[in-house]
Amino acid sequence: MAIDKESKGYVLGTAFVLCLVCSVFVSAAAIGLRPAQQQAKSDDKRKNILRVVGLWQPGVNIDEAFKQITPKVVDLASGEFVEGIDAAGYDQYKAAREPGHGVALTTEEDIASIKFKPRHATVYFVYNPDGSVKNVILPISGYGLWSTLYGFLALEANGNTVVGINFYQHGETPGLGGEVDNPKWKGLWPGKKVYDENGRVALRLVKGGVDPSAPGAAFKVDALAGATLTSNGVSNTVQYWLSDAGFKPFLSKLAAARNKPAATEGES
Ligand SMILES: Cc1cc2nc3c(=O)[nH]c(=O)nc-3n(C[C@H](O)[C@H](O)[C@H](O)COP(=O)(O)O)c2cc1C
Repeated sequence: MAIDKESKGYVLGTAFVLCLVCSVFVSAAAIGLRPAQQQAKSDDKRKNILRVVGLWQPGVNIDEAFKQITPKVVDLASGEFVEGIDAAGYDQYKAAREPGHGVALTTEEDIASIKFKPRHATVYFVYNPDGSVKNVILPISGYGLWSTLYGFLALEANGNTVVGINFYQHGETPGLGGEVDNPKWKGLWPGKKVYDENGRVALRLVKGGVDPSAPGAAFKVDALAGATLTSNGVSNTVQYWLSDAGFKPFLSKLAAARNKPAATEGES
C-alpha cells in the first residue's frame, strides 16, 4: 500500500516519532551527565572552602588539598557537635526547608532574608600540626539586591578574627554588587574583628571608606562602590550568621575550648 506522505496522519506521526527520539536523547544526556555535574558542583564548593583559608592554588589536586579540611555538623542553638549526620554530604540549605530540620523565620528575625534557618549546619575545621584548631569556616547566605548570595566566612580559632570571606554563588550585577568577587575587596577582610566588648556582632560594611586609625575600624569593611544594596545584604548576612541565631553559640564554645586538645573543642 502506498504511503501518502502529505496526509495529516503521516506528518503528525513523523513529528511524534521525531519528538520521541529527541526527548530520549535529551533525557539520556541529562541523566548521563548528572554525576559529572554533581562532581563539578562538589569540587567547586570544596575549592571555595579551600580558597577562603588560602589553601587553594590553581592546579592543586582538590581531593589531596581537602584532606586539610575537617567538616563537622553543629547544632546552631546549642553550639554542640551533632553525631550521626554525614557532614560532607549534609545540605543545610535544603534541610532548612524540611519539616523538623528547619524553622521559618519571622520578618523580625530574618535580617538576612533567608526565610528559613536550618537546625544544623556544617562547619569546616583547619587544624595546626599540634591538633589545635587553626581556622573555622562557616557557611553563610543572605539576600543582596537581586539574589541570595552563598559563601563562606573563615575565622581564627578565637572565633572573633576574620581570616577571609568569599561568595561562590550569587546573581548580583557584575561591576556593582558582583564586586563581592573582587580579590581587592575580599583583601579588606582578613584581620577584621566580629564581636565588640559587649559580645555584640559589630562587623559591618560602611559607605565612604574606612579610616584605619578611626575608632571601631577593626569592625568596619568598605562597602562596595555604587552597590549599597548588595553591601547592606552582605552586612546583614554576616550579622545574622554570627549572631545568637547563627553560629555564636558554637563560636563561644570554640573560643572557650581553644586551649584544649582538638578532641574537646566545641565543649564548654
Ligand atoms: C542595571 C542596574 C544594576 C544594578 N545592580 C546593582 C547591584 O548588583 N547591587 C547594588 O547594590 N546596586 C545595584 N544597582 C544600583 C542600585 O539600584 C542602587 O542605585 C545602588 O545600590 C545605590 O548604591 P550607592 O548608594 O552606593 O550608589 C544597579 C542599578 C542598575 C541600574
